[in-house]
Amino acid sequence: MSGTEKKYKLKSLGGRVLSPETQMMGYGFSPELSEGSLKPPIFQTSTFVFQSAEEGKAFFELAYGLREKQEAEEIGLIYSRINNPNLEVLEDRLALWDKAEKSLVFASGMAAISTALFSYLKPGDVLVHSEPVYGGTEYLVHNILPEFGVRRVGFNAEDGAAGMDAAIDQARALAAESGGRIGAIYVETPANPTNGLVDIAAARAHSDALQQDGRRPPVIVDNTFLGPLWQTPLELGADLTITSLTKYVGGHSDLIAGSCSGAESWIGPVQVMRTILGTMSDPHTGWMLLRSLETLKLRMEASTAGAAKVAAFLRGHEKIDAVWYLDYLPEGHPDRAVYDRQCKSPGSTFSFEVKGGEREAFAVLNALKIIKLAVSLGGTETLASHPAAMTHSDVPPAERERLGIKASLIRISVGVEELEDLIADLDQALAAI
Ligand SMILES: Cc1ncc(COP(=O)(O)O)c(C=O)c1O
Repeated sequence: MSGTEKKYKLKSLGGRVLSPETQMMGYGFSPELSEGSLKPPIFQTSTFVFQSAEEGKAFFELAYGLREKQEAEEIGLIYSRINNPNLEVLEDRLALWDKAEKSLVFASGMAAISTALFSYLKPGDVLVHSEPVYGGTEYLVHNILPEFGVRRVGFNAEDGAAGMDAAIDQARALAAESGGRIGAIYVETPANPTNGLVDIAAARAHSDALQQDGRRPPVIVDNTFLGPLWQTPLELGADLTITSLTKYVGGHSDLIAGSCSGAESWIGPVQVMRTILGTMSDPHTGWMLLRSLETLKLRMEASTAGAAKVAAFLRGHEKIDAVWYLDYLPEGHPDRAVYDRQCKSPGSTFSFEVKGGEREAFAVLNALKIIKLAVSLGGTETLASHPAAMTHSDVPPAERERLGIKASLIRISVGVEELEDLIADLDQALAAI
């Protein structure tokens, strides 16, 4: 690492470890290398000029893993599908939030999920995964992975430890039949849209027990709902943590991106797969995300405080049947212990059930005046949607019912507006039932 790089990769000061929120303003970027620009310019280029043919050869040797890195040697800039300064600075900063050795950024959350799964699953393998999962992930594991010879066994987040244990046993038997392995354990927690919780440490214990010939399946966690602030899966036993950056990290509903973070040894195959599939993000999106990261903590704290008030309003309302807000998990409920252990906050996305069914839920959604009727979450504006008819509409109806995605369910992602305005909007919309 050069003197300049050392200064801009400062991790501690006088024995004090610097906090990620401080690091989001400068970590990983050297103004000296960009005409003194305070902020990283957008490196809108497809390729990079080598100073010599020897340098180009050395960069490729490292990028393609043809030899080990020498002491203090870095992979140089080659081509924006392989690396780009905006993405590298962003990855360095995301790794600080995720407490990871390395992060990679992708064109979308789905690009991160599919690239990570394709890196670890082979024909004959079985994927064990929690349910429900985001609709796109559900389609991938139900419809696309089987075409590549990968079968799956799901377990309902609501079934706790017993559900996961049974799924592992079933998957082991299936894998033995096809001469494969359990290729990965994939967990979405909290789950979209029900906020069901999965014990990450328990998933890791299963992975450890499956160790064979020095290999074990990675535990991959989709951490989108709580984002890197309110849950740190790598500290809880996960090997890879995935975030749809489209949501809280981007935070303004104006970009699509994703990330995958973990130890270098687990990230390596995912990086190779990203280079070959070309699922990386682009310089402009990377620049927008760097800007968003500067206010991530402020936005998440504000929206979380607002969500607590909105949840309390809904809970006391006569036309509401249930509010699936994590702080309301009763003591003694199996998820409560998982929540207390894993999550630092309930976040600001949750679902609630209106009395009635689709007709009543649609009446409320159609009557909203400030809250926008749109899928997605984690932006500065409050959004509401109907999972059964929208994000999870391709889940078969019986399956939806089993997973608690009812016709009466509305999902809300609370933004940073004045919360009394939001409550007034919900109040008048509920009067429409
Ligand atoms: C939990 C979860 N994971 C992954 C995704 C996919 O992210 P993207 O839309 O960025 O591909 C979403 C999108 O809503 C999501 O809610």
